[in-house]
Amino acid sequence: MKILKTIEEIKAFAGEMSKAGKKIGLVPTMGALHEGHLTLMREARKECEIVIASVFVNPTQFGPNEDYDAYPRKFEEDCQKLEQEGIDAVFHPEPEIMYPQGYLTYVNVDGDITNKLCGARRPGHFRGVATVVTKLFNLSRATDAYFGQKDAQQVVVVRRFVEDLNIPVRIHMVPIVREESGLARSSRNMYLSSEEREAALVLSRSLKKAETAFAGGEKDTSALKKLVREELAGEKLAEIDYVELYSFPALQELAKVDQPALLAIAVKIGKTRLIDNVILGSER
Ligand code: PAJ
Repeated sequence: MKILKTIEEIKAFAGEMSKAGKKIGLVPTMGALHEGHLTLMREARKECEIVIASVFVNPTQFGPNEDYDAYPRKFEEDCQKLEQEGIDAVFHPEPEIMYPQGYLTYVNVDGDITNKLCGARRPGHFRGVATVVTKLFNLSRATDAYFGQKDAQQVVVVRRFVEDLNIPVRIHMVPIVREESGLARSSRNMYLSSEEREAALVLSRSLKKAETAFAGGEKDTSALKKLVREELAGEKLAEIDYVELYSFPALQELAKVDQPALLAIAVKIGKTRLIDNVILGSER
């Protein structure tokens, strides 16, 4: 597996593969890789001739009071896992390589898809994501890129700017990978104490309740959100950030779930903010 650290190195590698007409899959990550990330790698490996993973904790998508400094960095272990998955190259730049002195350009997705959910709670977050992902698309010459439903709003944002900016890449969304307990895999689960980890099971449990009610015929948005809130309220260590339900992928308000919809939650367990979601009314 090639380890690429500079713009020149990734440009040379991707340029060569692109010239040879290869189908290039890109899996962008911030590292501290777990089964969720590795599932994206496997999906890319199945479908593409060349797979490039990126491991970059992107400073521009963290707010001033967020966990940029504390975010886990485990590049050696990540490389071992990527090697095992048969990844061809990993791009691992320093922040100064991606944002050198004089850097001034950002990709901003306006309006209805970024003014809610994590976009409303984390100002500037999706601007940072859209900017770094655009740069990664350009550098990797990816024909295909793989993202997790775990960050469903991120997928909506990426699909939007890819279409708006006419970027020639196909975006694939991979279902959420969970532990047996139901807890959605996340690099941030590392922050949880054992007591908090137990408490964190309330996220998936609350979504499951709503999913079951939906399957049983409950289509009312307020009633479904109430079920989730009630379950979350039963856990002392959980503090709700949001419980929201929108059409998917348009992210429009819905009174009744009469089309595919995203039921998404953000909950603080102690100091750790976790997100989870389910898509109601369709397979994905
Ligand atoms: P990160 O949080 O490292 O996630 C990288 C990719 O893995 C994302 O597409 C995310 O949705 C996916 N992922 C994480 N946990 C998952 C799970 N349990 N099941 C399925 N997929 C999962 O998302 C980012 O990094 C960054 O915003 C990035 C796109 C790399 C831009 O900096």
